[in-house]
Amino acid sequence: MQTVLVTGGAGYIGSHACKALAAAGYRPVTFDSLVTGNRWAVRWGPFEHGDIRDVGHLAGVLQAYKPVAIMHFAASAYVGESAVDPEKYYSNNVAGTLSLLRAARQCGVGRIVFSSTCATYGEPQQVPVPETAAQVPINPYGRSKLMIEQMLQDYVRAYGMGTTALRYFNAAGADPEGEIGEEHAPETHLIPLVLQSILQPEKPVTIFGIDYPTPDGTCVRDYTHVTDIAAAHVLALQTCNGGLGFRAFNLGTGAGHSVRQIIETAERVSGKKVHASFGPRRAGDPAALVADPTMARRELGWQPRRSELHEIIGTAWAWITRP
Ligand code: NAD
Ligand code: UFG
Repeated sequence: MQTVLVTGGAGYIGSHACKALAAAGYRPVTFDSLVTGNRWAVRWGPFEHGDIRDVGHLAGVLQAYKPVAIMHFAASAYVGESAVDPEKYYSNNVAGTLSLLRAARQCGVGRIVFSSTCATYGEPQQVPVPETAAQVPINPYGRSKLMIEQMLQDYVRAYGMGTTALRYFNAAGADPEGEIGEEHAPETHLIPLVLQSILQPEKPVTIFGIDYPTPDGTCVRDYTHVTDIAAAHVLALQTCNGGLGFRAFNLGTGAGHSVRQIIETAERVSGKKVHASFGPRRAGDPAALVADPTMARRELGWQPRRSELHEIIGTAWAWITRP
């Protein structure tokens, strides 16, 4: 059985990727500091508690498990927070990835699948956004992820590695079998906050901005089911078997939904009222981010299967209301 090291495997998307890896016959080894992840989410392989900025620890883990590849999810990932604490983002994301790359080189691990983001595009000129769009991020989080993509390209050129950057749009939903789901403290993502407001009317969700140049004035995003994103990682791993080089793919559905549409769908799926209030725009938020996912379909054979909005919100609702 082949082993894959999963940094951030105790996190939301990383844990779903571990489940998908195990289902595809791999052994996922999670390396995670638990800074935002959950120990209970590590269910499909060994757990190593550590920080990716510790090169020696990482190298020891790589030597012990001898993985064929690394999936690199570990990062700080809040757009808003990155605007007020950029140092955290350059330290954890950029310096952390440098440390990971150093350990990977030391131990001869040449295949890396990296969690990039549509935030690297900034305020796109063209929506849906193709991979060829200019990458001009408008917040430190997006800049940190773009710097990592550039580092990966330089490493490929100089050291002959095989790296894939998957630029996700908005991951959402939960494992349809109910084994894992999104749980952050504090939570900042829209869909869990909308659903929590149903259960706790005293904590309404704030709609960040109603004056965007979008059809209903609220931000538009491309919500993609977390299990579809996890499946794309397995495909990226399998298709980079012999080939070296750098590849980048958008992971999105090609359909955008506004904040108001999320609220309406949550009310329909749950049969209950969402409690919402209006607030100002959040710093660093582009008006609309929607993927052109053609390249992932063509080159990875990736097809979103659970990313209809009602299924995303249905699985998230089942998770949040689990007994
Ligand atoms: P998450 O916070 O749930 O998971 C991140 C995991 O990384 C956590 O388990 C955390 O404990 C771990 N971690 C963080 N810093 C670490 C460090 N220095 N050493 C070891 N472990 C560390 O976040 P997520 O939503 O699952 O995001 C996973 C990845 O996907 C991130 O790289 C994020 O930037 C990227 N991404 C997420 C989205 C989204 O919609 N959630 C969209 C685009 C990209
Ligand atoms: N939003 C609200 N109220 C909230 C929270 C969010 O109106 O309480 C809005 C935001 O303004 C945004 C949309 O809902 O328009 C989605 O916001 P999230 O915080 O759920 O997600 P982000 O788009 O900010 O960020 C996520 C990931 C990032 C990733 C990004 C790509 O957290 O890692 O998607 O767009 F880079």
